[in-house]
Amino acid sequence: MTAPQELRVDGARLWRRLEALGEVGAVHGPNGERGNARLALSDADRQGRDLVVGWMRDIGGHVSIDAVGNVVAVWPGTDPSAAPVMMGSHIDTVRTGGWFDGNLGVLGGLEVVETVLGSGTRLRHPLAVAFFTNEEGARFQPDMLGSLVYVGGMALEEALDVQAADDEARLGDELQRIGYAGPLPCPAAGAPRAFVELHIEQGPVLEDESVTIGAVTGVQGISWTELTLTGQSAHAGTTPMRLRRDPGVVAAAVVSGVRAIATEMGGSQVATVGRLEFHPNLVNVVPASVTLTVDLRNTDEELLRQAEARFQQLLSDAAAAEGVDVRQRTLARFEPVEFDPEMIQLVDDTARRLGHSVMRMPSGAGHDAQMMARVCPTSMVFVPSVNGLSHNIAEYTHPADIEAGANVLLQVVLTLAAVESGA
Ligand code: GLV
Ligand code: MN
Ligand code: MN
Repeated sequence: MTAPQELRVDGARLWRRLEALGEVGAVHGPNGERGNARLALSDADRQGRDLVVGWMRDIGGHVSIDAVGNVVAVWPGTDPSAAPVMMGSHIDTVRTGGWFDGNLGVLGGLEVVETVLGSGTRLRHPLAVAFFTNEEGARFQPDMLGSLVYVGGMALEEALDVQAADDEARLGDELQRIGYAGPLPCPAAGAPRAFVELHIEQGPVLEDESVTIGAVTGVQGISWTELTLTGQSAHAGTTPMRLRRDPGVVAAAVVSGVRAIATEMGGSQVATVGRLEFHPNLVNVVPASVTLTVDLRNTDEELLRQAEARFQQLLSDAAAAEGVDVRQRTLARFEPVEFDPEMIQLVDDTARRLGHSVMRMPSGAGHDAQMMARVCPTSMVFVPSVNGLSHNIAEYTHPADIEAGANVLLQVVLTLAAVESGA
């Protein structure tokens, strides 16, 4: 039998599953790009869930579904009282998503389990692979909703009542519709022994530094606000400029103003207006209202608060100057998270032992791991994203890097799950 330290995943088998899941809700670009539109709790999400649950069962997992639609498969260890070592991520995507964001953490986890089972290695702790509902936050806000409820950070009833940003469908109704309102209570009863999430970096740093593995130190804070700006709709030809109350002008000030704030603050501060809708959106009508979103992130909570304060000042100045009313709603607000130092060290040491280049880095994107870190020792393994692209159908990671990351995940999990001596 192969010694546990020598075990390696089957990279081709993992790639085939990534490809197969990528066919569900596939989107094709003009230059051969192959991406995914699998918004949370859509029909495509249901098909993706069914496919992954089928794979979980094929390799002997005991699958359970909780009240917010999180799916967890478990394979027992030798100690019935030991908590599972959990891997996982999400399989929902943004509307212009790729094959790897989230999918890799789930299918990488399955690959680890299949490798362990195929080798006959016996572990003291059970293994678990999870996918959490609505990680992306593209359809329902906040993001990381499923894992947030899982760890008790949001009440189940509140989560089920969230309405979709596009069609205003209720999350609980959509869960029922796709058959994933499960019987298990959420929050979960017990905490895992540890949680490890394999993920693509989604940014350019690893590629730029020619490094294969990122040992993730934490996740930056996230602040999402939705603004509804209301002015006076009027005729574009007849209304003199001095008499206008144009919410579009305030929206424009916000778009360029938050960019200036982030540029002036520097460091890890980023700012994005990703959604902007004019009403009635016609060439010859001063808009009646504009709805837009502002996404601010920083690794430092104090600096994130400063960015929020500066954004509020710019908004009230611009709105007052134009005589526009402002309504705002917080869609998500999470403080920066630092992962467990021993878990970060384990990822770092394991990657080096396997002969990979490694660097420590914070995550710019939000992840289910940041919620799991509230209840158990947690870490993440990053692999490079080609051209740093993600949330884009051109998202890509080379097969060799996928395999490298999955082998790091495997060896980290073997350490955490305690290989039985003599196995
Ligand atoms: C989730 O993917 C986010 O970071 O926006
Ligand atoms: Mn993700
Ligand atoms: Mn994402």
